[in-house]
Amino acid sequence: MNIIKVQDYAEMSRTAAEIVIGKVKGNPEVILGLATGGTPKGMYDSMIEDHVQNHTSYEHVTSFNLDEYIGLKPNDPNSYHFYMNDSLFNHIDINKGQTFVPNGTPDNSDEECRRYDERIDSLGGIDLQILGIGQNGHIGFNEPGTSFNSGTHVVTLEDSTRQANARYFDSIDEVPTQAMTMGISTIMKSKEILLLISGEEKAETLKRLFDGEITEEFPASILKKHNNVTIIADQKALSGV
Ligand code: GLP
Repeated sequence: MNIIKVQDYAEMSRTAAEIVIGKVKGNPEVILGLATGGTPKGMYDSMIEDHVQNHTSYEHVTSFNLDEYIGLKPNDPNSYHFYMNDSLFNHIDINKGQTFVPNGTPDNSDEECRRYDERIDSLGGIDLQILGIGQNGHIGFNEPGTSFNSGTHVVTLEDSTRQANARYFDSIDEVPTQAMTMGISTIMKSKEILLLISGEEKAETLKRLFDGEITEEFPASILKKHNNVTIIADQKALSGV
């Protein structure tokens, strides 16, 4: 795993955006894997700023998001569909027909999961996957214990994950108990992965990623087996290392 050490959240965001923008300029038809949560928000802001100033075009880019809450419709302000539209897609020239986020209200979730993976494969796979990380080492919504062989699937969220994400909801009771997420094997098939880590609440997590063994009890540990992972971490996240 390559590591880029940066000062703070702002520098992490700019650095990550520069990498993504470089990919888009190098291959206008690039397939991006995108993430939600607080971590990538600043990166999206930098991409929007660049789009306005330098007119980087996303017209031919395709994107696949990692996950979505089960039970939330795309227009629900807490859904990841809404987050992506609000944080990025509404502000750049991407063709929304080429932006894919798992359907949180499917008629048949097994079928939806299978189709999601099939679509990624049929387009040739994800070129660059952006990841954040949960304090318990989850990537996407793959909680500890998830099989490393998993494709896109439905998960039951850990209480700690629901609590960590409750800040976006009116109360913890409103945080969905399940989500649909790209699986670990879906993520590992990406040609390149960019993991963003910021803040002291992630310091223990980053230390465990560096020092710990590869185990399904700490999902992000599988990234050590990928041959093209870059971590961008800020000083606070690196404070435990
Ligand atoms: C959620 C998302 C993950 C994200 C994690 C960390 O659980 N499903 O993709 O990485 O939260 O979120 P944050 O970046 O807000 O710390």
